[in-house]
Order: sequence, then structure tokens, then C-alpha cells
Amino acid sequence: MKTRFICQNCGASSPKWLGRCPNCGAFNTMVEETIEKKTAKPEREPPRVISLSEVPMEQKDRTSTGLNEFDQVLGGGLVRGSLILLGGDPGIGKSTLMLQVSSPLAENGASILYVSGEESAHQVKLRARRLGIKGDNIKFLAETDIDAILDCAENLVPDLMVIDSIQTVFSSELSSAPGSVGQVRECGARIMRFAKKKGVTTVIIGHVTKFGMIAGPKTLEHIVDTVLYFEGDKTQQYRILRAIKNRFGSTNEIGVFEMSEFGLKEVANPSRLFISGSRNSGSAIITVIEGSRPLLVEVQALTSPSVFNYPQRVTSGVDYKRLAMLIAVLERRLGIGVARFDCFVNAVGGIRVSLNLPATSVSSLQSPLP
Ligand SMILES: Nc1ncnc2c1ncn2[C@@H]1O[C@H](COP(=O)(O)OP(=O)(O)OP(=O)(O)O)[C@@H](O)[C@H]1O
Ligand SMILES: [Mg+2]
Repeated sequence: MKTRFICQNCGASSPKWLGRCPNCGAFNTMVEETIEKKTAKPEREPPRVISLSEVPMEQKDRTSTGLNEFDQVLGGGLVRGSLILLGGDPGIGKSTLMLQVSSPLAENGASILYVSGEESAHQVKLRARRLGIKGDNIKFLAETDIDAILDCAENLVPDLMVIDSIQTVFSSELSSAPGSVGQVRECGARIMRFAKKKGVTTVIIGHVTKFGMIAGPKTLEHIVDTVLYFEGDKTQQYRILRAIKNRFGSTNEIGVFEMSEFGLKEVANPSRLFISGSRNSGSAIITVIEGSRPLLVEVQALTSPSVFNYPQRVTSGVDYKRLAMLIAVLERRLGIGVARFDCFVNAVGGIRVSLNLPATSVSSLQSPLP
């Protein structure tokens, strides 16, 4: 099949890849796509329009996975035939999460197809053994060619298919490398068509690029039903699962997990992860709302006389500009001079918070100052 390159900025096309679009002048916007052969219009019956009330309701349209935090984020479980994109930093635990979600489903008799282009069957088996997963009903396929993956899925028609990850899957019809925008878009669209046609619930795992976007900028987010982000600080144990988009539920819910040697554990009381055991001067406990859940988070602040001309402002889990603004408020409104002090602010547990501090909390930040 022939391919062409389309500019994502202005839609201009070119038979070969160009670094700069000749039409709009934008750099690096040409993305490869296949050209559908124009055939004579087939004779077909006009499409039938039906009233919404005639659409049959499926009895069991949501399946609980057994992981309550995961179900909660999805709005009550996996919706049959839905397409979910699970994004996250490399090594955050995406494959672990999907293996743990698959396990209770498989134990309840659901058939799972786990497609991995990144890891061998042996590697996945090792992880499953560490997590205590037997995997009787979990079928494994080490494949990266989208045609072979969809052929296999067509034969099996599993209840849940996991693609780990979309960046490794490729279509032989495109000449661009796996992971390129064109490949991600083409393979994502083909998976979507398959999932909707066969009613196979599908989870696509995607790595977040260093620019913070799932590669294939935003294109996959538009075609899938649900976008989940798995985030957290890799040096800390906690992980947060967040819905960015959900066609079948609210995007207000979050799921909190703790990573351990035996996999992800659900955290019923997340606040305990975000409060250190010791109480020092300069620490304040604040409430933040994550989704619809209030959390208690300890924020620690420290100042020390600066040895440089330009004092340092170092934050962890807090927006740097927010700290600069709070320091300006302390200087100008409260008359506390911090201009020649290095300031360090840390949210315990590695969580990210936005410091919308009420006046009472601002006063508690005075304590670290000498
Ligand atoms: N023995 C272990 N003890 C504790 N934690 C472990 C152990 N083995 C793995 N982990 C955790 O699991 C994480 C890797 O999980 P996983 O492979 O599921 O992540 P991923 O997001 O799929 O990564 P990738 O981007 O490589 O596909 C590690 O970063 C670590 O936090
Ligand atoms: Mg993985």
C-alpha cells in the first residue's frame, strides 16, 4: 500500500518526508499515513437509522476487576468493548498494574490476551511469579506486527486485550519506525476499529515522552474512550492512577497504590504516605483535594543563609513559581526578609501539590525563619 506524508499543522501533503512543511513552514510536522486505494463505489444499502430506545441494553456492561482503586477510577469497572490508554513514565509500574488487573479477571473465567512487544514470555512469567499470579487464563503473545496481533486477537476474541506498549507495535504498510507519530496513530486506529467491531475491551499501554505527552501527540487521546495516567515518584513507593478523560465515568476519581516487591497494593488511607513520622519546625500539614478525595499532606520548608549572590529556591512536589510568589508575599506583606536565604520546600511522599495556602497556613511557614 502506498503512503504519503501529511503536515499536522496545515494538512499539506508530500510524497516524501520533509523536515519543514513547504506550505506553512512548520518544522518536523510531516507524519506518514497510508493512502487508501480508490475503488469504484460499492453498491450498498442505505444505513439504517434507529431510535435510541430501540438499542438493546447489555446486561453486564461493566466488569469489576477486583482492584477497587482501579475500578473506582474507571467509574465502576471495565466497560465491555471500551478502549483505554494507560500512560506513564518508564518503570512506573504500568505492566505490573495490568498484570494485576488481568489476574482476578482470569480467575473469574475471563480470557485475557496479553501482547508484549517489550518483554519476552519468560520476563513476564518472572513478574507474574513475583506477584503470585498463576496466569491460567492469561494468554501471552510476544509480537509487534499489528497484522499478526489483530489476526491472533480475531481468533481468540478475548474478554480483555492488553497491548504493552503501543510504541513497539508497527504496521508494515508504513516505512516509518515503530513509535513514530504515524505508526502510533495508524496502529491505534486499527486497534480501535477492532475493539469496537468485536466488543473486545482493550488497554493500550503508552510511554510518556520526556515532553510529558504520550508519543503520537494527543492523537491517541482523541480516539480512545478513557485516558489513564499512572504517576508517582519512582524513588517513593506511592503511585496515583488518574483519569484524564473518561467517556463512561467521572474524571474526578483517583486510585492510590503502594509499590512493593509483591506488586501494587491498594492504599485505603493515602494520607499516611504523605505525612512523615517526625514533627519538625517548618512543617505544616495541609489538606489537598485529589479527585473527590481529601488528603492530608505534610509540606516541609527550610531556609538557610545563602552563600551565593543569587539565593536558591528548590522545590519538590510544589510548583517553583508558586514558591517564588509565596516568598514575595512574605517579603512585601508580612515584612519577613527571605531575599538572602536559600529556600527549600518539599511535599512529603513525593506527591505534587498546588499550594493554595489560606492565610493561616502562610503564618505557619514563618517558623523556619531564623
Ligand atoms: N523486586 C522488586 N521489589 C520492589 N519493587 C519492584 C521489584 N521489581 C520491580 N519493582 C517495581 O516495579 C517497577 C517496574 O514495573 P513495571 O515493569 O511494571 O513498570 P513499567 O511502567 O511497565 O515499565 P516499562 O516502562 O519498562 O515498561 C520498578 O520501577 C519497581 O518500582
Ligand atoms: Mg512495562
